[in-house]
Amino acid sequence: PTPPAMPDALPDVALNPNAKIVLAKRYYRKGPDGTPQEDARALFWRIAGAIAAEEGKYKKSPYKADALAREFYDLMTGWKFLPNSPTLMNAGTDLGQLSACFVLPVGDSIEEIFDAVKHAAMIHKSGGGTGFSFSRLRPKEARVGSTGGVASGPVSFLRIFNTATEQIKQGGTRRGANMGILRIDHPDIIEFIRAKERDGEFNNFNLSVGLTEAFMKAVEADEEYDLVAPHTGQVRERLKARKVFEMLVQKAWESGDPGIVFLDRINRDNPTPKQGEIESTNPCGEQPLLPYEACNLGSINLSAFFVPGTATVPTTKDGGLPHPSPEKAIDWAELKRVIHLGVRFLDNVIDASRFPLERITETVHRNRKIGLGVMGWADLLYQLGIPYDSQEAIGLGERMMQFVQDEGRAASKVLAKERGPFPAFAESTFAERDMGPYRNATVTTIAPTGTLSIIAGCSSGIEPLFALCFSRNVMDGERLVEVNPHFEAALRDTGSHSKKLMEAVAEKGSIQAMDHLPEDLRRVYVTAMDIAPVWHLRMQAAFQKYTDNAVSKTVNLPNSASIDDIRAIYWMAYEQGCKGVTVYRDGCKAVQVLCTGEGE
Ligand code: CDP
Repeated sequence: PTPPAMPDALPDVALNPNAKIVLAKRYYRKGPDGTPQEDARALFWRIAGAIAAEEGKYKKSPYKADALAREFYDLMTGWKFLPNSPTLMNAGTDLGQLSACFVLPVGDSIEEIFDAVKHAAMIHKSGGGTGFSFSRLRPKEARVGSTGGVASGPVSFLRIFNTATEQIKQGGTRRGANMGILRIDHPDIIEFIRAKERDGEFNNFNLSVGLTEAFMKAVEADEEYDLVAPHTGQVRERLKARKVFEMLVQKAWESGDPGIVFLDRINRDNPTPKQGEIESTNPCGEQPLLPYEACNLGSINLSAFFVPGTATVPTTKDGGLPHPSPEKAIDWAELKRVIHLGVRFLDNVIDASRFPLERITETVHRNRKIGLGVMGWADLLYQLGIPYDSQEAIGLGERMMQFVQDEGRAASKVLAKERGPFPAFAESTFAERDMGPYRNATVTTIAPTGTLSIIAGCSSGIEPLFALCFSRNVMDGERLVEVNPHFEAALRDTGSHSKKLMEAVAEKGSIQAMDHLPEDLRRVYVTAMDIAPVWHLRMQAAFQKYTDNAVSKTVNLPNSASIDDIRAIYWMAYEQGCKGVTVYRDGCKAVQVLCTGEGE
């Protein structure tokens, strides 16, 4: 479809200083000599036009492509909604690959393994990230029939994927990100758990152990469990479940790696089990997918829906500033409108996207998964004056995500009426449960929004702020000092603002030790490290409750956290219904695969 022409009266885009740098460096289309060929207006119109143009083929659509393009443009440039990076980079270009998340199968043969390496390279080139399960590979030293030799096992093949990734830049801008998963009952699980012990090993991978319900029960009952060779189904060995669990906890304490995912739970929510089992997620863990499936994400900036100047209510017993009631201080009607437009946008992205493999196109078009999520959550809590680590924030988090989920599904139903349900709907669990019809097999996902949050100028995903004031390295050695705008405004309101104070905050990041600042101010302006780990986990669980896919969240722990603390968090994640968990102990040796706009 031909995108509508750019109108003359298109308003200009107000970019924050970081967005200027990030967009120029990575998102503007460049000419042969590397100089940008577009500005922010051209970029956002290119995207809006390309995605709205897909509307034309749906005869029952209430929108005309040019009017819809303008709505999409306003949505993005008002920093209310942004699609994932590949859509920003590639919509309306020759490349045209618009999804961030892919999962590829790794079969137990040399051909299948190297097919996966090749397909991953093609996906990375197009700007996507890939997840793999290595659980089908025969274990180390198992016999190889055709040669009479012995197999090298999942961990050694993982190294090949890692090396191949090293050489290929995503969409020509960043190195590829990968997820590698091995089931807890694979005979090579111990080697896998220890894979990142050496610094820098598997640096292009996030690793996660796939935990099963049977294993968790064995841990609880202090029993042994079976390690099964996947290619023969034979039990190879039995291990004490608690010993393996302890090792996992120990490694997570040392380096944050590997993380864990709860495979049975992910499959319990698999909307299309007739198409097979879900064995992996995308690189950052928020998007479980079938083999050869891809998903495009988009995030709503919640802080853009704050309505200033509403009357305040007294503080609750959780503490915090006297604050406005969320009922009035959040523009729910506008949020609803944006959710509906966001779902339409993401569904159109599926049609507009060109995938590097026919198999992927088929799978994506069959299920039409999208992942609408949120960012700017911590900023919204600052604006409302509600402490992140409070029951009130958890309750509002649940309510907020339930709203996004309900309205998102309602929007998907509207699209199903206009365009028909996703082709696999009849064989999906929705049909069995008499729900729907829906246009999309999944609607919601909470992404990390590493770069999107920089462009929109808000806090990332549902994470708390890392620091209230800091200097940021924005690629190529450019540094920018940044103060959280809500914090700065609150300081001015309470008459506490001074240059000296800002310098002190920039050094510490947190204000918790600054006794001279008003207590309720300190209570609201908490940062990641001020927040007890259980509150991180509770917030993740609150959002997971109303998210079809999964939630990207890191549970931050202080350097002094013990192994017991990590064990408690893992166990809580299991009990509270999370689909996985990632912990990071401050100052531990690991460098995470970057999912932020910073770094290379
Ligand atoms: O903010 P942005 O759209 O750039 O990405 P994100 O929300 O931080 O990450 C969303 C997903 O994009 C990740 O889970 C990966 O699947 C993919 N990604 C990637 O492939 N490579 C990166 N360097 C960052 C993200």
